Amino acid sequence: MKAQPTLKTKRLILRPYTLKDSKRVQLLAGDKEIARTTLLIPHPYADGEAEKWISTHKSSFEAKESVTFAIVSKESNLLIGGIGLTLSLNHERAEMGYWLGKEFWNQGFTSEAGKALLDYGFSEFKLNRIDAHHFHNNPSSGKVLQKIGMKYEGRQAQYIKKWGKFLDILMYGILRVDWEKSK
Ligand SMILES: CC(C)(COP(=O)(O)OP(=O)(O)OC[C@H]1O[C@@H](n2cnc3c(N)ncnc32)[C@H](O)[C@@H]1OP(=O)(O)O)[C@@H](O)C(=O)NCCC(=O)NCCS
Repeated sequence: MKAQPTLKTKRLILRPYTLKDSKRVQLLAGDKEIARTTLLIPHPYADGEAEKWISTHKSSFEAKESVTFAIVSKESNLLIGGIGLTLSLNHERAEMGYWLGKEFWNQGFTSEAGKALLDYGFSEFKLNRIDAHHFHNNPSSGKVLQKIGMKYEGRQAQYIKKWGKFLDILMYGILRVDWEKSK
């Protein structure tokens, strides 16, 4: 089986995480603003959580369950966030998720990484569809999904209970046929 590759874009390197990234992941993803609009990122972000999470990546990739990349700035060589796909290969689809350290927001980095991940997902795993969703109180994530070519597919009211409040989710997706047309 092929190892997980490293992907390159104009300003970014997307590479597998290593355990050496743990402290930086804890520092950046430990910001409450990151947990606020995500489902699975813990807050507070305890010591050892990042190591535990990173340790699952290799076996999940080998089992074709998910593929997770650290987003690294070419300019600074620093890890600035993460992006990945949860694979459902029996349906030839995947779900994209991402986060970026707050100091790096609004510079187009996640959109740049997202486009590269769509190309990788569709090419490598022969997917028919890639989708994503975001909480209604996270419009910048919706903007990312629009910018990478996903279409709005609907809203599920009060789908998530986060920190005691019900939140709607907005769903986005792109089909292989539309990704091919965009190439
Ligand atoms: C969502 C997130 C990944 C976006 O990353 P990013 O690198 O800032 O995204 P980009 O810069 O590529 O695009 C963001 C876009 O949203 C826009 N935006 C920012 N705040 C906005 C707001 N309140 N309303 C509408 N658009 C907004 C930006 O202007 C930008 O669009 P533009 O390039 O057309 O100007 C980042 O905010 C994050 O990590 N948030 C916390 C974790 C999270 O929510 N993850 C996603 C879960 S679905």
